[in-house]
Amino acid sequence: MEVAFQRVDVEADLRRLRDFDRKVFPAADVFPSSYWRECDVYWLLADGKRVGCCAFQEEPEGVLAVATSGILPSWQGLGLGRLMKSWQLAFARRHGYRRIVTECRAGNVRMIRLNESFGFQITQTLPAYYLEPEEAGVRMELAL
Ligand SMILES: CC(C)(COP(=O)(O)OP(=O)(O)OC[C@H]1O[C@@H](n2cnc3c(N)ncnc32)[C@H](O)[C@@H]1OP(=O)(O)O)[C@@H](O)C(=O)NCCC(=O)NCCS
Repeated sequence: MEVAFQRVDVEADLRRLRDFDRKVFPAADVFPSSYWRECDVYWLLADGKRVGCCAFQEEPEGVLAVATSGILPSWQGLGLGRLMKSWQLAFARRHGYRRIVTECRAGNVRMIRLNESFGFQITQTLPAYYLEPEEAGVRMELAL
């Protein structure tokens, strides 16, 4: 399998991003177009197919926020989420960020364990951060 990360032209690919998001996340967690436009977005290509997507936002003081990480359901469990996380850390280091932060649903055990395996720690619980179903969020951080 050949894999590659490819920067997304958000304006040109908005429809594709929205379709992808709907396949990976519950309806309430799908990003509006306005939010995609604020992000630096990358496809994960496997054999040329768009199987994963992640997005960054820059925060002050050398902090890179990972706004989303998703792998298409039929491609999950193959190690591609781990590959994407590893690439995100390499990307952050390569661009001189000092800290990487991310948030997810408190019940998203898979994502939390994956982050923890790279050394991320939960730094904050955000009550009722997500809707439908209402759920707390957790903020996780890793010093680079
Ligand atoms: C979270 C997500 C990105 C992980 O990607 P993935 O390709 O499925 O994960 P990987 O195959 O790389 O596995 C990563 C870890 O997840 C866990 N995992 C994988 N498949 C699993 C399964 N079927 N059941 C339970 N845990 C599983 C394992 O602990 C694995 O760690 P390991 O490498 O030590 O075995 C993916 O499941 C996803 O897109 N989920 C929906 C979107 C989401 O919740 N995104 C995060 C919030 S932004």
